[in-house]
Amino acid sequence: MDIGPGTRVLITGASRGIGRAFAQAFAATGAEVGLVARSADTLEQVAAGLPGSGHRALAADVADHASIEAALNEFGDCDVLIANAGVANYGRFVDATLEELDQMTRVNWLGCIYTIRAALPRMIERGRGQIVITSSGAGYRAFPWAAVYGGTKGAQRLFGEALRHELDGTGVSVTIVYPGEVESDLHAHELARMPPWRKNDEEAPAAPLAELVVKAVREDRASVHYPPFVRLLRIAHGLSPKLGDAFLRRLRGSTAAPRRG
Ligand SMILES: NC(=O)c1ccc[n+]([C@@H]2O[C@H](COP(=O)([O-])OP(=O)(O)OC[C@H]3O[C@@H](n4cnc5c(N)ncnc54)[C@H](OP(=O)(O)O)[C@@H]3O)[C@@H](O)[C@H]2O)c1
Repeated sequence: MDIGPGTRVLITGASRGIGRAFAQAFAATGAEVGLVARSADTLEQVAAGLPGSGHRALAADVADHASIEAALNEFGDCDVLIANAGVANYGRFVDATLEELDQMTRVNWLGCIYTIRAALPRMIERGRGQIVITSSGAGYRAFPWAAVYGGTKGAQRLFGEALRHELDGTGVSVTIVYPGEVESDLHAHELARMPPWRKNDEEAPAAPLAELVVKAVREDRASVHYPPFVRLLRIAHGLSPKLGDAFLRRLRGSTAAPRRG
């Protein structure tokens, strides 16, 4: 798909982190961007700081079907739809509150399918569109202390893979994004309880990921892996979960795969 002036891009989770980097990269091409998140004031500030014109701040909660549908209706037709909003609550599953488990499931998984379900009929009608889903490296191999988070990211991967095939011939396609550790505020509320395997000091900047996603949309790529070790994790775990565990132990230490066998 050609991306530039006249292209309309809607991004959820656009108020900060990876979503904001996506907004900046697409706006830099001349595209008009619709920015969705719950925090209206921050969205207005981000929209005002983007290059180009025609950008819209659309406060909505992706976990509320009516709310995201209203935001999509307000924005109108979109050529690129990026389901990116997400939350994380790390910690042992047994210690998690039901509220935390519910929030991750509702925002990451239901929020993703609510967003796409609301926009897809019109995209198919127009015979044009690219859906981008921000999953995670954890969508290939989920991590201890992030079992439910990984479950939501794996669900996004399986859903997106099937949908890409299902939409064959419609003019609408799907790109799935698999970030590893990327600079953002995802864990800002839980820095004191991060698992040892998580390397906060090795987070990659979000801007190069956003550039890769613009390119992937232009070329209708099925997936984007960033940084490159995520692709290696996919290959190792796909060949054999034991190989994936050994790869992770080497890279992230024994807490990434404590059980042998
Ligand atoms: N950073 C990483 O290392 C990493 C790695 C793999 C995957 N990811 C994925 O990348 C995506 C973006 O996360 P991030 O790292 O950029 O985190 P972030 O900096 O915390 O940004 C999350 C965004 O999602 C929005 N959001 C949260 N709940 C929402 C809701 N109910 N409705 C609408 N918007 C909501 C937030 O805005 P409001 O709070 O204002 O609503 C914010 O704009 C997530 O899907 C995450 O799982 C991140």
